[in-house]
Amino acid sequence: MIKIVIVGAGFMGRTHADAYLRMANVEIAAVCDRDESARAEFAEKYGCRAAADFGALVRDCEFDVADICLPTFLHEAYVLAAAQAKKDIFCEKPITLSVESLDRMLDAVRANRVRLMVGQVLHFWPEYVRAKEAVERADFGEIRYAYAARLSEHPKWSDWYRRPENSGGGLFDLHLHDIDYLCWLFGEAESVYAVGKKNDFGCWNHVVSVLNFRGGVSATAHGVIEMTKGYPFTMELRLSGSRTTYDYVMHAGENLEDRGNSLRRTAIYADGKITVPEADLRDPYALELAHFVDCAAAKRESEIVPLELVRNVLCTMEALKESLESGALVKVNYGRRG
Ligand SMILES: NC(=O)c1ccc[n+]([C@@H]2O[C@H](COP(=O)([O-])OP(=O)(O)OC[C@H]3O[C@@H](n4cnc5c(N)ncnc54)[C@H](O)[C@@H]3O)[C@@H](O)[C@H]2O)c1
Repeated sequence: MIKIVIVGAGFMGRTHADAYLRMANVEIAAVCDRDESARAEFAEKYGCRAAADFGALVRDCEFDVADICLPTFLHEAYVLAAAQAKKDIFCEKPITLSVESLDRMLDAVRANRVRLMVGQVLHFWPEYVRAKEAVERADFGEIRYAYAARLSEHPKWSDWYRRPENSGGGLFDLHLHDIDYLCWLFGEAESVYAVGKKNDFGCWNHVVSVLNFRGGVSATAHGVIEMTKGYPFTMELRLSGSRTTYDYVMHAGENLEDRGNSLRRTAIYADGKITVPEADLRDPYALELAHFVDCAAAKRESEIVPLELVRNVLCTMEALKESLESGALVKVNYGRRG
């Protein structure tokens, strides 16, 4: 049995708890949240202990894993505390907002010999996994065009998202998903270019990016976290090669919380024929956390979301931010760890 403390009783904390409830080998031991009513409501619904202070849980609650679902700017402090307490860690994305911060976390995880997995959920999203498998089988022939997009209203449930120092804005909070996915498909980007628009606080909430990968593919990604009120949460993926085109679109009812109520359509074009596979409605968050629990039980690192890729993605995000600020094409600096 893997005993889990969920840190953060908000939108993602509850999403994770719903997934854990369906797993036979998991017990939600406790929730940690500074907001008294949020933690009490959570504890009652999921039948667990509640605490405001993570340190108190480390001292007197038996658990194996800390699942960190806090606002992004708090991730580093809690990952460091969990690592020092020798707990395995799941942390929501974006893991943090700078490579410097990530390197401190990676050092702590290695020094304490614990495992860390980051919630880069597209690695478990059935339609994105299907396209990744098609790329690995070389179904496309030579890939000549790659496009990924994610468009949403601003998150309605919490205000901390509006400040760049808290969330990294739409650039880090939303667009990162597609940058992660493209890096997973095509490896390291050599250079990037991006244009966009900032909100009044300095968040890049409207972004169009171009990534030039070392392997020769150039990809485009669009990320908007401030669409007009009522616009459906939208994901798009289009890959086109010398033999095949893969086209996926999802329009959720209103925001991401309505993903069960969404239109999801994949079409694969090859040899003059169109194939429309049936929508795979398995919950990607449940698939992701089941994989994490398997890794924690077996004391192994995730091979599906490797930390080297997590770091490469953050290096790419920093380069995109620099390009947005400067208007220039920017070489990605991977600043190799020694
Ligand atoms: N993977 C995805 O698709 C996805 C989707 C949404 C959000 N996220 C990420 O998940 C993380 C959490 O986002 P959310 O929307 O659930 O946030 P939220 O605002 O809904 O919840 C955050 C919770 O943390 C609590 N909290 C704040 N400061 C605290 C502190 N110092 N100590 C203890 N508790 C504290 C708040 O009271 C709140 O209950 C963010 O990093 C976000 O980017 C990921």
